[in-house]
Amino acid sequence: MGILDKHHVLERNVTLLAVFAFLVVTIGGLVQIAPLFYLENTIEDVEGMRPYTPLELTGRDIYIREGCYVCHSQMIRPMRDEVERYGHYSLAAESKYDHPHQWGSKRTGPDLARVGGRYSDEWHIDHLRDPQAVVPESVMPKYGYLERRVIEADHVAELLATHRLVGVPYSDAMIENAAADFKAQADPESDYDGLLERYGEKVQVRNFDLSPEITEADALVAYLQMLGTLVDFSTFTPVASR
Ligand code: HEC
Repeated sequence: MGILDKHHVLERNVTLLAVFAFLVVTIGGLVQIAPLFYLENTIEDVEGMRPYTPLELTGRDIYIREGCYVCHSQMIRPMRDEVERYGHYSLAAESKYDHPHQWGSKRTGPDLARVGGRYSDEWHIDHLRDPQAVVPESVMPKYGYLERRVIEADHVAELLATHRLVGVPYSDAMIENAAADFKAQADPESDYDGLLERYGEKVQVRNFDLSPEITEADALVAYLQMLGTLVDFSTFTPVASR
C-alpha cells in the first residue's frame, strides 16, 4: 500500500488538497506548454497550400455570414470511420490561412473539409437553392437568394489586406490585382493568366452559377469547390513516416 494509505490526509484537508492540485496542474501545464517555445513552427508546412483567391475568400465570408459552420465542421479526425467517409484526415496546415478556423465538433450535416470536386457546380447550385429537392430528408435551409445577389469587387482588396494583417502571406501584387482576379476567376472568357500566376495553376476558373453576373453563389461555390483540393494526398507523406 505505502503512499496510497496516506491519501486520506489529502482528501480530508482542503488546503492541502488545493496546494497539491495546483502543483499537479502546474507540472502538467509545463509539460504541455514549455516544448512549444522551443519549436520553430508548430504547423508542419505542406506543399500545395496557398492563400485563398479573392473570390474564394469572399465565398468564405458568405459561408461564415450564413452560419454554414453551425451545421458543418471542416475537420476530419484521424479515425477510421471518418477517413473512410470523408478522405484523408485534416492537417493543421490546411487551415493555417483560416481566420477564424472552421473546425468544430458538432455536425448536423456532413463535414465539408474535402467537399471540393465531389459534386458539380450545378449540383451545388441546385442543392443551395433547394436542398430537399436533391436530398429529400435534408434539414438544410434554402439559400436560393445567394444566386440573385450580385456582388462587386469594391472591397476585396481591403479584405485581402486585412487577412495579411493577421498573417496570411498575400503579396502586394495579390492585393493590387484583387479586384481583377476576383472577376477573372468567375469568367472563363477573361484573361486569367495573372490569377494563375499568383495563386497557382490549380485555381478553378469557371462561371460557377452559370448566370452572367458575379453573384454570392459564384463566390460560395468557388470556395466549396476548393475545399480540401489544395494538398495532393497522392504524394503527401507525414513527417513521422518520411
Ligand atoms: C441546419 C443545418 C444546416 C445548415 C445551416 C447548412 N447545412 Fe449544409 N447540410 C445539412 C445537412 C443535414 C446536409 C445533408 C443532407 C443534404 O445533402 O442536404 C447538408 C449537406 C450539405 C452539403 C453536401 C455535403 C456532402 O458531402 O454531401 C453541402 C456542400 C452543404 N451542405 C453546404 C452548406 C452551405 C454552403 C451552407 C451555408 C450556406 C449550409 N450547408 C448550411 C445541414 C445544414
